Amino acid sequence: MQVFVYKNAEEVARAAATVFAAEIFKKPDCVLGLATGSTPVPLYKELARMNHEGLIDFSRVRTYNLDEYVGLDPAHVCSYRRFMNENLFDHINIDKANTHVPCGIGADHEADAKAYDAAVEAAGGIDLQLLGIGHNGHIGFNEPNDVFVYPTNVITLTQSTIDANARFFDSADDVPRQAISLGVGGIMNARRVVLLATGEGKAKAIRDSIKGNIDPKVPASILRAHQNVQFFLDEGAASLL
Ligand code: F6R
Repeated sequence: MQVFVYKNAEEVARAAATVFAAEIFKKPDCVLGLATGSTPVPLYKELARMNHEGLIDFSRVRTYNLDEYVGLDPAHVCSYRRFMNENLFDHINIDKANTHVPCGIGADHEADAKAYDAAVEAAGGIDLQLLGIGHNGHIGFNEPNDVFVYPTNVITLTQSTIDANARFFDSADDVPRQAISLGVGGIMNARRVVLLATGEGKAKAIRDSIKGNIDPKVPASILRAHQNVQFFLDEGAASLL
């Protein structure tokens, strides 16, 4: 594991964008694992800028997002499909047919979860996985648990996650209680993982992930067992290290 600390969120975004650009140069049809939430937004802006300036070409890139809320139609203003379109895909020359977000409205979520893992595998696996981290140490929507859950699965969100994500909804009551998320196995199978964390609010989760035991109560701690993982932090997120 490598940990890099930058002055602020903009510097984190610039550094992470370099990693993504390098991956796309190296492998123009690479498979990117993508995340939603506030943290990657500056990175997505930077990637869109680089694409507009002709520095990177997304035309053959394939993407698989980490998660989606159960019950939200892709067109819903808070769906992660819509988030990805509005924050990245609408601003780059990617073929939307090559972009994938778990389906939260299928008739059989378990079958959809299995199919998602199979699709990632059929695509050749994830070359570069982007992660944020929850205040409780979650990655994707893999919440603190007694065991690590490896396959893509339906997850009941903790109150901490519901409260943290309420800012995107009219109220906490409107936050869906379940999500479908790439499992810990899908994340660990990625050939490279880059986790971004910005702000002091993430400092405890970062400290527990890096300095505590590998423990399913802190899901991000499993990343320490990954061969090729980098944490890109700003000074706030690194303040308890
Ligand atoms: C989102 C995701 C989550 C977020 C995490 C941090 O696709 O997988 O694990 O990365 O909840 O969210 P922000 O960046 O909004 O603090």
